[in-house]
Amino acid sequence: MTEPEIAVRPATTADAESIARLYEELHDAEWHGRPPFPIAVEAFLDEVRTALAGSGVRVLVAVIGAEVVGTARVELASRPYGPIAEIRRVVVARAWRRRGIATRLMAAAEDTALALGTGNLRLTVVSSNDGARRFYAGLGYEEFAVRYRKRTARRATDGRGARAGSE
Ligand SMILES: CC(C)(COP(=O)(O)OP(=O)(O)OC[C@H]1O[C@@H](n2cnc3c(N)ncnc32)[C@H](O)[C@@H]1OP(=O)(O)O)[C@@H](O)C(=O)NCCC(=O)NCCS
Repeated sequence: MTEPEIAVRPATTADAESIARLYEELHDAEWHGRPPFPIAVEAFLDEVRTALAGSGVRVLVAVIGAEVVGTARVELASRPYGPIAEIRRVVVARAWRRRGIATRLMAAAEDTALALGTGNLRLTVVSSNDGARRFYAGLGYEEFAVRYRKRTARRATDGRGARAGSE
């Protein structure tokens, strides 16, 4: 069987719904299919549209023909020591995993960061996401920090104090 042709390109607004569905899959993956709270796909759609409109933000998609099968995002941030690129929202559709698609997306994300002016790359993975951790380690990413969270019982002014997400 011949392998399908995979291409990675910048996302357009026409890809927004497909990307939002992939973000839903990512949300499930981070919580092992049992998210403590569901997020409506519309919320992810808002996130994608905001990202597509953002300066210093580049959204990439992996496509096979007309089908969007993966995505990744590069966000440029300035630090006192210079710019860094956060690689975020890396996800490949379940049916297409272990075919090198995320590897292609990461190569494109790194090229994108360089084109934005930095080779200083960062990303965050939920500690329990062993598959993703192995994936990034295989690409040469090293652990350098630990993120903490706390769900305070006090209510935030927007009423969402007890619903800290994975990020
Ligand atoms: C993590 C993820 C993006 C990897 O995508 P992918 O397209 O399957 O990755 P690749 O095929 O490029 O994998 C390259 C190599 O990484 C390693 N790897 C990838 N996924 C792995 C897994 N689940 N467990 C162990 N190693 C893994 C393997 O060494 C793999 O090579 P191999 O298939 O020849 O063994 C994908 O599993 C995914 O979308 N997961 C859900 C979302 C998520 O967790 N995203 C990361 C959060 S930041």
